[in-house]
Amino acid sequence: MKLNEFRDRKGKEKIVMLTAYDSQISKIIDQVEIDMILVGDSLGMVFQGRTDTRSVTMRDMIYHTQAVARGAKRTPVVADMPFKSDSTPFIALRNARRLVEAGAEGVKIEGRKTDVIEALIAGGIPVMAHIGLLPQTAEAYRVMGKTPEDAQKILQDALHLDELGVFSMVLESMPEGLAKEITGAVRAPTIGIGAGRYCDGQVLVINDLLGLDPTFTPKYLKRYANLYQVISDAVGAFKRDVRGGKYPDQEHTYH
Ligand code: KIV
Repeated sequence: MKLNEFRDRKGKEKIVMLTAYDSQISKIIDQVEIDMILVGDSLGMVFQGRTDTRSVTMRDMIYHTQAVARGAKRTPVVADMPFKSDSTPFIALRNARRLVEAGAEGVKIEGRKTDVIEALIAGGIPVMAHIGLLPQTAEAYRVMGKTPEDAQKILQDALHLDELGVFSMVLESMPEGLAKEITGAVRAPTIGIGAGRYCDGQVLVINDLLGLDPTFTPKYLKRYANLYQVISDAVGAFKRDVRGGKYPDQEHTYH
C-alpha cells in the first residue's frame, strides 16, 4: 500500500508500524508483512547510545534509511526528519528529498510546523505528523495532555495537521481518552505509542519490543522477546567455549 493511500485505512484493519535501523532487521520485518517501517531518530538513543534524539544528523538518517530500504522490499519506509533539519520550508524540502533518494517513501515531522508540512506535501512528499510527546524538543519524557488546556491544544494541533493532509499521525504518550477523541475527530489514521488502544494503529521501537534493554521500562511497553538474555547467554557460551578450548572444534575447522 502506498503511504498516500493510508487515509483510506481509517476505521479498517489496525495499522502496524515498527522502527528499524539496519537491513537485517528490516528484512525480517518485511517478511512478516506489517504496514510501515519507521527509520526513527530514536536511533540516537537505541543505536548510538545517546540520551536523547537531538544530536541525530541528516547524515545519520540517510545512512540508516539506505540500510533499512535495502531490506524492505515491500514495506513502505518512513524516515524521521531529524532535529533542525526542518527549520524552514526550503531546508525541509531539500532534506526530505534526500531521505526519499535514500529509500524513504515519506517522512515524519514532529509538531505543528504548518509551512514546512505544506511545502513538503506540495512537493509531493507524503508526511506523517507526530504530536503529544515530542522527543526533539521535550524538556522531559512524560505523559502529555493531562490538563484540559494541554489536551485541548493537542486536539487542535491534530485537527490542524489533519487539514494539511498528512497521511497519518503518531500520537505519543498521552491519556487513552485524549487519543480516542483525536482518533474520532481526524480523517488521518492515528498511530499510538503510549496512547492506549483506540488509535488506528500502534508503533513500537523494535529494540524495545525485542527486550534489548531491561532498564527501559515505560508503562506502555510490552516486550515480545528477551533478546537481552538471549544475547548475554550466547556471548557467555562463546566466552566459555573459547577459554575452555572447545571452540573451534572439528566441525567448525577447515582441513
Ligand atoms: O523516533 C522514533 O522511533 C519515533 C517513534 C517512537 C514513533 O518517533
